Amino acid sequence: MRVYLAGVGGMLGEALHKVLAENHELKCTDIDVNEPWLEKCDFRDFAEYERQVSAFEPTILMHIGAHTSLEYCEINPDDAYRTNALSVEHAATLAQAHGIPLVYISTAGIFDGKKELYDDWDQPGPLGVYARAKYLGEIVVQTRVPKHYIFRAGWMMGGGPRKDKKFINLLMKQLAKGVTELNVVNDKLGTPTYTVDFARNLAAMIETPYYGLYNMVCGGETGRLEVAQELVQQLKLQDRVQVKPVTSDYFAQEYFAPRPACERLVNYKLKLRGMDLMRDWRVALHDYVRDYFSDYVKPFAPQYASEAKDLR
Ligand SMILES: NC(=O)c1ccc[n+]([C@@H]2O[C@H](COP(=O)([O-])OP(=O)(O)OC[C@H]3O[C@@H](n4cnc5c(N)ncnc54)[C@H](OP(=O)(O)O)[C@@H]3O)[C@@H](O)[C@H]2O)c1
Repeated sequence: MRVYLAGVGGMLGEALHKVLAENHELKCTDIDVNEPWLEKCDFRDFAEYERQVSAFEPTILMHIGAHTSLEYCEINPDDAYRTNALSVEHAATLAQAHGIPLVYISTAGIFDGKKELYDDWDQPGPLGVYARAKYLGEIVVQTRVPKHYIFRAGWMMGGGPRKDKKFINLLMKQLAKGVTELNVVNDKLGTPTYTVDFARNLAAMIETPYYGLYNMVCGGETGRLEVAQELVQQLKLQDRVQVKPVTSDYFAQEYFAPRPACERLVNYKLKLRGMDLMRDWRVALHDYVRDYFSDYVKPFAPQYASEAKDLR
């Protein structure tokens, strides 16, 4: 396939580029040209997006990028809606015009958090600007592009020290500073999603005619606290670092955007189709740390670094 990837310079994009380049011809673009394989394109600019897509003549369009900071989206709603919702309308228009399928990445964060587990058919109830814009993107893609794949990710882990903007890297940076205590919320439940597994599952799905919307997260049900405890265990730092449970109020100033108490997903449709390739989150976390952080952790987790090979 000739794959046009828009907004693919981030943590998911890093894995998508690696996985999809094995079997497809790619054109990779982002507003932030941070890799030699990236070209610049701001997808808020329809004329520019159209020019680049038309020049490449893709057989499939993947609209990947977004503003992913919930706090940025709350403070800058106009840019959040332009980037995360209107740009998806651009992608839908282009996919229609070229008669090609569209891939869109959505999020577990579109739910209201009142249920303990959400399947693909549960009704979203977005709480904040980011979630609402991402949900609007889902609706646009579903209503305007007959051949679409929408994949909902959970708490993304991927990209390593350079690209990971999320939870695992935040913990890693604190551990690298030598902290002996990690304050972690005990009231947020969700499902980690390893970018490499996600990219592999996506690559398998686009070979099928099973268009539609899919939850696509790692296996297992967990929460922030348990993920942090598991990370500390895997790094063999449990004797040195204490994971201290706190409530979300503790971080209320820093993380003021509304977040669902529970955004756990289950890949029900993928399972029914026999297409759920996502591994358990603990196994994926282990591979993530081993494959992306092994050099980084050497100064503060030398025991892990020396034993990491045996765990493969
Ligand atoms: N991270 C998560 O936990 C998570 C969870 C569920 C779903 N998702 C979804 O997964 C997708 C990929 O996210 P990610 O985790 O890889 O986030 P990421 O690391 O922030 O990557 C997103 C990329 O999109 C770029 N971008 C932003 N505005 C753009 C524009 N106008 N034109 C072109 N590129 C633009 C960003 O550039 P800048 O960095 O310069 O802004 C960034 O390189 C997004 O659709 C996101 O909503 C993410």
